Amino acid sequence: MSETVKRILNKKELEKPDLIRLLQSSEDERKLIFKKAAEIKEKFVGNKVYYRGLIEFSNLCGKNCFYCGIRSGNKNAHRYELSEDEVLQAAKYAWENSFGSVVIQAGERSGKNFVGRIENLVRKIKEFSNGELGITLSLGEQTEETFRRWFDAGAHRYLLRIEVSNPDLYHRYHPSNKTHDYNARLRSLYLLRQLGYQVGTGVMIGLPFQTPDDLADDLIFMREHDIDMVGMGPYIEHVDTPMYKYRDQLIPKIERFILSLKMVAILRIMMKDINIAATTAMQAIDPMGREKSIKVGANIIMPNLTPSRYREDYLLYEDKPCTDEDAEECKRCLEARIHMAGGEIGYGEWGDSKHFRRRKK
Ligand code: 5AD
Ligand code: SF4
Ligand code: FES
Repeated sequence: MSETVKRILNKKELEKPDLIRLLQSSEDERKLIFKKAAEIKEKFVGNKVYYRGLIEFSNLCGKNCFYCGIRSGNKNAHRYELSEDEVLQAAKYAWENSFGSVVIQAGERSGKNFVGRIENLVRKIKEFSNGELGITLSLGEQTEETFRRWFDAGAHRYLLRIEVSNPDLYHRYHPSNKTHDYNARLRSLYLLRQLGYQVGTGVMIGLPFQTPDDLADDLIFMREHDIDMVGMGPYIEHVDTPMYKYRDQLIPKIERFILSLKMVAILRIMMKDINIAATTAMQAIDPMGREKSIKVGANIIMPNLTPSRYREDYLLYEDKPCTDEDAEECKRCLEARIHMAGGEIGYGEWGDSKHFRRRKK
């Protein structure tokens, strides 16, 4: 049977049936996929792993996604927002330790105050680092004006996961109202690209009712949208969410993990020069999850810089790693892990998506 997989891996462009077949590969077959992905990674992006210091600015969120632990409807979540000082200190740590960039992530909110605070933080980070620290934002859907203000302040990358590219499934996992509209999310992705951001998206893997067919569509979605960066990982249930009731219908966690590794590897084969993150959710299932992702195609890691006392509160899903550690511990830990995975850390470099530079021309 591995002949079929070999033949697919030699094709120039993978089509949907190929993707489904690769996603359903056996243990022996997936080794071939992983090997091919590693070769492509080496050839097109090299073995450098770039850091994006993660600052979880706030777990306040105006949305109520059925899968997420910090959804507005979860009254058990203890809400916080970092002060300006706390954010700047975390960003300074990143700069002093030669992390090329930071990511500011929070629940989705609109409102003048919020928009202004982010704009101010972006400007201040740019200022103290003499423009050296790259800034990625991950703050949900926003208006064109907001995206523009943040871009003008100095943010140059934006992460907005589509979560699931099948609109029917999207609507099953979200309340049906206009703040949870699939088309609005697409529009935001489009606006970000228009405004000149490097655009990242991603999906969750192993969601209830999701099939290999859907995951193949997710990969095709990323290719068709010519995306620059991707962060994706396994869906992990959280007790305080409506989707917890489907926990018995999920595939086992280890299967979700393997499926996620396959998604990373196949995407690397399809989109050779993009940036792909080794996500934290991978490590929530397998202690070596991020290293394994790096070996099969990922080239970005987001060391957590959120001050320790807030980490427990930014709990999107169960078993999130690094909640008891601080920035220094995660830095040391990751250094060792990346070296074990045969990677080299791109200290002091932005590590922009090569794809972005190429597609701009
Ligand atoms: N399991 C895995 N990932 C999740 N996210 C939210 N909830 C979960 C969950 N239960 C992811 C979403 C979101 C990102 C910030 O976290 O993909 O975009
Ligand atoms: Fe809010 Fe994002 Fe969680 Fe949805 S996934 S509830 S938008 S933080
Ligand atoms: Fe945070 Fe290992 S990266 S403890």
